[in-house]
Amino acid sequence: MDKFVIRGGNPLVGTIRVGGAKNAALPAMAASILTEEPVILENIPDVRDIQTERSLLVSMGAEVELGYGRASHRTTLCCRNLVNPEAAYELVKTMRASTLVLGPLVARMGRARVSLPGGCAIGARPIDLHIKGLEKLGAQITQEHGYIEASADRLRGGHITFDKITVTGTEDLMMAATLAEGETLMENCAREPEVADLAALLNKMGARIEGAGTSTIRIHGVEKLHGARHRIIPDRIEAGTFVIAGALTGGDLIGANCDPLHLGALLEKLQECGVRIRTNGESVRVIADSQLRAADVSTEEYPGFPTDMQAQYMTLATQAEGTSVVTENIFENRFMHAQELVRMGANIKVEGSRAVVRGKTPLSSAAVQCSDLRASASLVIAALVADGETILDRVYHIDRGYERIEEKLRSVGAQIRRIGEMLPRRAAAPLATA
Ligand code: EPZ
Repeated sequence: MDKFVIRGGNPLVGTIRVGGAKNAALPAMAASILTEEPVILENIPDVRDIQTERSLLVSMGAEVELGYGRASHRTTLCCRNLVNPEAAYELVKTMRASTLVLGPLVARMGRARVSLPGGCAIGARPIDLHIKGLEKLGAQITQEHGYIEASADRLRGGHITFDKITVTGTEDLMMAATLAEGETLMENCAREPEVADLAALLNKMGARIEGAGTSTIRIHGVEKLHGARHRIIPDRIEAGTFVIAGALTGGDLIGANCDPLHLGALLEKLQECGVRIRTNGESVRVIADSQLRAADVSTEEYPGFPTDMQAQYMTLATQAEGTSVVTENIFENRFMHAQELVRMGANIKVEGSRAVVRGKTPLSSAAVQCSDLRASASLVIAALVADGETILDRVYHIDRGYERIEEKLRSVGAQIRRIGEMLPRRAAAPLATA
């Protein structure tokens, strides 16, 4: 199990290049199921979840080529010969986003067998809204032995109103509706930029989708979809993580190759805390030269403050003068990082969905444990400002969604190294088939 060893105290100065969005790449790869022609995706992050998605698609019979060298962030997927429309428990339990193949498989193959995801560190995270929506599109669904069995000769358009805003639910059903007979109207949809990016790819594949990025999406079903080439949007959560690291370490840091418009709520909140922010077309500059002020935050669906930035913001709040109340409204158990931060000297009291953070309290190094992807990022940032050398255990969590974060941070002055088995550099991968 890899660990990070981080010596705190260095300001981060320079430019970090932000990669493609994991949460846009995963549904885009699932979308390739909808056609028998090749789909080429660019700006794909080289992270563990992408490799898991690749294994999942290959297990169904897809050909997936992950580029290397200069093309290392390009992927070519071809689902001409899908023979096994199944997402096995072994894969789904490691990555819930595997359930994104459910809608595309039923739409293209007329049947799907997908393992139920089971519990998750940050919450129950059921997929009942995915199932309910598919039934609205005419699918027959049964559940046995921990698996969902779904089938339909051909899905038919319908009217879906989500009881709760769900990102992958919106994506899963939007994909399914592209090949349905007739029109589908979806309301109370997620408005995340990743949803709009998926719709952009699907429309390039010949789908007819309107309104993605708003809470009402209309899909006119078509007979067939074709291949396409698409560049995935930048990762707003990776960008936000570096912006907070820059703000906390007293540095002058530029996050390049990102879209500042996707970071609206976060940047607004940081300015409220007294952080100087400069943006231009594709970059965000953070200049941290004044004492941080406390500010409350509540997580919401996009365009509100993202839950995937809550943990990193909590670390910032430990170094702000005053009391910040951090309220988590999306997931019921997303404060696992709080006790690890307390081990480093933070003053945090968790009361249900609220965490009361009193700052500023100096942080000192300690052995801490990562519990999930974003909690790990908050601990890396804490270690960058802690006094002494912090050992972070279970960093495989962070490799799921951050591409070589230690190299990127080291390139702007951080003292961070990985110990244990090196993340295997991907050898040139021949064209893989099931
Ligand atoms: C997506 O997860 C992201 N993952 C998550 O990022 C992110 O935290 C989340 O959206 C919220 O922004 C991907 O895009 C792959 P939801 P998703 O369905 O779609 C409840 C990261 O760190 N719900 O929008 O699974 C659910 O329990 C990850 O990169 C149901 O009740 O989240 C939650 O409380 C973590 N029934 C709420 O809705 C359903 O059928 C929002 O979840 C679906 C969801």
